[in-house]
Amino acid sequence: MSKNVIAIDGPAASGKGTLARRLAAHYGYHHLDTGLTYRAVAHELLETGTPLDDEERAARTALSIDFGALDRTVLSAHEIGEAASRVAVMPQVRKALVEAQRRFAATPPGTVLDGRDIGTVVCPDATVKLYVTASPEVRAGRRAAEIASQGQPADYDQVLADIRRRDERDSGRADSPLKPADDAHMIDTSDQGIDEAFEAARSIIDAALAEA
Ligand code: DC
Repeated sequence: MSKNVIAIDGPAASGKGTLARRLAAHYGYHHLDTGLTYRAVAHELLETGTPLDDEERAARTALSIDFGALDRTVLSAHEIGEAASRVAVMPQVRKALVEAQRRFAATPPGTVLDGRDIGTVVCPDATVKLYVTASPEVRAGRRAAEIASQGQPADYDQVLADIRRRDERDSGRADSPLKPADDAHMIDTSDQGIDEAFEAARSIIDAALAEA
């Protein structure tokens, strides 16, 4: 594995994606949003009318995902996120995607990966691990504002219920559940803007890179 791997985990709408993109730009590293890889599998199954519980087809689809062609605009749809959290419980899907994610992580000069299991499973030897979180209420507020800004109707209570259900599924699954690695640095963005979170992350990472 490349020496410079920044692993960022956390629940939906915690701010980890925005933080990961900013950190990658700052350090000149490659970035992979691993959620998009699970979404790409779900999208392909939905498009081809394949039942979401067909693990064999889902695993074969996972092996065929092109990490260079992940289209955030297409994959960001709410129903794809829901379907992704269902295919993400399948060990064969995770195995295929994790192997490809590890290959990506080794790209020089360094990488930032964000997801649910980067520090615990994908890159347990990462140079530095961050766990980004915020209260469900704050995350639901952000997600609802994001949906509204796209001109779509956003119902806060519905969004909060979705976030809680997704948290439960991601944290409760047997294979690679969402949880902080023992050596992860915690960043709680409940009362922090992105600039503050970025500065906190940067000082943690600078210290880790200096030691590596
Ligand atoms: O972060 P996201 O909403 O794009 O993720 C979609 C789903 O994919 C999420 O519900 C859980 C799953 N996922 C995962 O299990 N492991 C990852 N490393 C990233 C995402």
